[in-house]
Amino acid sequence: MYKIVSIPGDGIGPEVVAGAVAVLKQLSRKHDFEIEIEEHPFGGASYDLHGEMLTHATLEACRKCDAVLLGAVGGPKWEKLAHEHKPEAALLKIRKELELFANLRPAKVYDALLGASSLKADVVRCTDFLVFRELTGGIYFGQPRGFDENKGWNTMVYERYEVERIARLAFESARKRDKKVISIDKANVLEVSQFWRNVVHEVHKDFQDIELSDMYVDNAAMQIVRNPKQFDVIVTGNLFGDILSDIAGMITGSLGMLPSASIGIKHALYEPIHGSAPDIAGQNKANPIATIASVAMMFDYSFSLPEIATEIYQAIEAALASGLRTADIANPGESAVSTTVMTEAIVRHLGA
Ligand code: IPM
Ligand code: MG
Repeated sequence: MYKIVSIPGDGIGPEVVAGAVAVLKQLSRKHDFEIEIEEHPFGGASYDLHGEMLTHATLEACRKCDAVLLGAVGGPKWEKLAHEHKPEAALLKIRKELELFANLRPAKVYDALLGASSLKADVVRCTDFLVFRELTGGIYFGQPRGFDENKGWNTMVYERYEVERIARLAFESARKRDKKVISIDKANVLEVSQFWRNVVHEVHKDFQDIELSDMYVDNAAMQIVRNPKQFDVIVTGNLFGDILSDIAGMITGSLGMLPSASIGIKHALYEPIHGSAPDIAGQNKANPIATIASVAMMFDYSFSLPEIATEIYQAIEAALASGLRTADIANPGESAVSTTVMTEAIVRHLGA
């Protein structure tokens, strides 16, 4: 039995999470395992109910379950709140409290969507890499931080154990892939990056079967757009990973397609990489694929059932191959289907 906490959140969150829950239920029927799904509020939805973006009850539920499934948080309604009450702050808090130190974001181009990329089809065809972004350290959390009238400051710090554990995960994952890791930093300018680079190379001594190279972050941003096929596994810090994973996401055609996993030692959280898209919320227009693919990552990483993950990816591909497109991935002039129609098609392709 798998205990999952679902956190639909704000904007299109509830609609895409409903799609993922439909997939979970179909899989539980098909493979005869039990799934318990418990829903909790988070973000703006939680603020409106309880005056807090992340309540103790939601956090405790996340600690007790096998995996968390998150939709999206935030929206214009809560943008004017003080910094520490913003949904972003709640997101950082949940990552820190659950110690989700590794954020995995695959950039995989679906053949059916080659036309949707902003880059030429020849450049992106067969792109398939995985970004390991460190998620609970670096400048996002470093002290001191603050600003006054004349100055603003943040601190980029990495501790040895923080670099070691993310590097280790990246090397282990490369073993199951093409055995190539590129570590991305700014060691030509930042001491913290030189330290990062040194530690990654030390960890590499245990992974001599993996090819390791280093790349500066500015060059990496350019290389991802120039020739994304050269990458297999990328490992990088929190801020660089934030930026690079958005670039990586966009070349695949749509942020609406991309899942993510945030993994720690005890806990794991799965969510689409897109935001809450308030402009289309409640209209049954959102693309549920990123959230459904996040469920695939859940089966892979939390439940060690990669064969079920593969089934989910195949069902997504079958739905796309049948020509169905939500608005974000439809070509101009092509008609788009709703969130529920896309979900039903994927559920159907999963079979009974
Ligand atoms: C992400 C987002 C978050 C981040 C924001 C919303 C705090 O951009 O998950 O990539 O910067 O980590
Ligand atoms: Mg981001």
